[in-house]
Amino acid sequence: MTTTTHATPVTGAVGTAHTRVEGRDKVTGAARYAGEFRFDELAHGWLALSTVTRGRIRSIETAPVLAMPGVLAVLHHGNAPRVNTDYEGIAGKPDPSIAILQHDRVAHAGWPVALVVAETPEQAREAAEALVVEYDEEPHDVAFSAGHPDAYTPGDSPLGAADTSKGDLDAELAASAVVVDAEYTTPEEHHSALEPHATTARWDGGRLDVLDSNQSTVFTAMELANMFSLDPASVRVRSEHVGGGFGSKLVRANQVGAVMAATVLQRPVRVVMTRRQMFSLVGYRSPTAQRVRLGADTDGRLRAFDHQGASLTSTVHEFVEACSGYGRAMYDADAHRTTTRLVPLDVPTPTFMRAPGEAPGSFALESALDELAEKCGLDPIELRARNEPEVGPVSGLPFSSHNLLACFEDGARRFGWAGRDPRPGVRRDGRWLLGTGTAASTFPVIAGPSTAGVTAEADGTFTVRINASDIGTGARTALTLVAAEALGAEPADVRVHIADSDLGLAMFAGGSAGTRSWAWAVTRAASELRDRLAVGGAIPPEGITVRSDTSELLATLAQKERHSYGAQFAEVAVDVTTGEVRVRRMLGVFAAGRIVNPLTARNQFVGGMTWGLSMALHEEAFRDQASGATVGGDLAGYHVAAHADVPSIEAHWVDDPDPDDPVGIKGIGEIGIVGGAAAIANAVWHATGVRHRHLPIRPDRVL
Ligand code: MOS
Repeated sequence: MTTTTHATPVTGAVGTAHTRVEGRDKVTGAARYAGEFRFDELAHGWLALSTVTRGRIRSIETAPVLAMPGVLAVLHHGNAPRVNTDYEGIAGKPDPSIAILQHDRVAHAGWPVALVVAETPEQAREAAEALVVEYDEEPHDVAFSAGHPDAYTPGDSPLGAADTSKGDLDAELAASAVVVDAEYTTPEEHHSALEPHATTARWDGGRLDVLDSNQSTVFTAMELANMFSLDPASVRVRSEHVGGGFGSKLVRANQVGAVMAATVLQRPVRVVMTRRQMFSLVGYRSPTAQRVRLGADTDGRLRAFDHQGASLTSTVHEFVEACSGYGRAMYDADAHRTTTRLVPLDVPTPTFMRAPGEAPGSFALESALDELAEKCGLDPIELRARNEPEVGPVSGLPFSSHNLLACFEDGARRFGWAGRDPRPGVRRDGRWLLGTGTAASTFPVIAGPSTAGVTAEADGTFTVRINASDIGTGARTALTLVAAEALGAEPADVRVHIADSDLGLAMFAGGSAGTRSWAWAVTRAASELRDRLAVGGAIPPEGITVRSDTSELLATLAQKERHSYGAQFAEVAVDVTTGEVRVRRMLGVFAAGRIVNPLTARNQFVGGMTWGLSMALHEEAFRDQASGATVGGDLAGYHVAAHADVPSIEAHWVDDPDPDDPVGIKGIGEIGIVGGAAAIANAVWHATGVRHRHLPIRPDRVL
């Protein structure tokens, strides 16, 4: 077994700005995405989705459609290959809605009822839109509220306990000099990656070859092997370039449909989703309803902490938007309680969406803390400083590092927080009321087992093989820098191969843990290779390869509270005649581990903060109670922040290397969105004197 080698910076590659190594391929169109591969005999599948929200399929009139030009097949519950859903995958039991075309039940609007396959995408689409499906409709319920009669407490999951409790909450609330008791809601929100979900699948000499857009080729391959009862070694999934994921790009109807059709037709088949289909097929962030009760002494010290979170799930699968988990490692109190409620409705199953739990949870809690600071007459940063926990409030575990206050100090200095007049509604600029706000941010730091191979080539260059996924984050470039540093080589002499399930087990691109997990494995292999090369001797033509596996190491890592932190600041202007809120500037300072590539890291932070702005002011999917479907489920109807909405956004970071990670990485993918909406809502209060506890802060709500 190899020892853990803490790489000494040699080239200084880590920490230097580096443009994406695949950037030229991307901007010249040489990079191929999953829906762009050409094969002889390539056929095109188009999903037909239900127009009702709940019921049974009575009939599907396939004959007229099969007679249309180019149509090759209409797969539906009566003829599609059966798939297995009775297995425990990496993420537990699969969502039955991914196992498409298996039965006649419709569980939500936009449920896949058929896959039409044709010679061209246009023919497939025309036929799918002409397909007549009749339903026996049943009444549906899509109305979410925390008090819904079917609300229940879910079981504990690997992502956390449903409920936590310590101390006597009622007694501490009663003994508190200052109490905040407020309800917050966040709406249904959708991720819509620039590259829609897409798959090209084919049988290649007895092997299933899948070119796909996903956040983990190995996860996708294992799920497909399970569902289609295949030997895992006979499934290969590749996703060399991925245009965004955000939690939505796991196994979906596109992969399952493409494999089904490729199997039935014995031809390569491509399935690409439309932007509208993504609104019902790829998951989304559940709406939340949260109640926060905080009790404090007059000096702001928390005595009572209660965060009650409710979200929805589908009737076929359980997903929890764990918003009440946010405060479990953030704020301590003599009595501390967090609860989770879930409401099953006739809607698509929600899923992970950038900072699942933390994004809506931080909106409620960081807004409530601002209310508490106001009531205590304390600066909101000072309130947080007075409530810094010594150990994990719920876990009791020590923190590996805890640099929240360093973020606030640096952020306050850069933003110009000192001397802020705390009174709300007193600053004017013509018809605009002005205000500033702040909020804290945190995200857990995790790592998943990964394997890597590093080869010293005979020509003096190096090749790294790791099953990472670069979903647009710049992971491939970060790993090039990490490998270069560990090898003592120039980045130009290191090539990195990623996103091929044949490369073996590796962490998925999620949980802000991809780069950290992969870099750990790459560093181990590279360091050992370097030691071996130091001994000297000629390199054979096939090179010298060292492989690493971090699973054993990670399993024995000491239990600690490991987190990234951030301080978010916003300045807003509120138009008193129209109710429009304009964010004039946002500034975030993060303690998120050692930054591998400042260029792409800044993209991640600023992208997350932009999403926080969008969440605060724009994003909201309307689910029509009568039809059960989202209204305007596309990027025309679903408002996201456009360039004109996004002012100067600055992201900075403080020195915060993770003490356990060989490179010092923590992970930066999600923390940028956390706390952003609260900082803006708190700034809107400071501008107007009115608390906004329901997102988005639309003009009609402001007036
Ligand atoms: Mo992220 S929501 O873990 O893909």
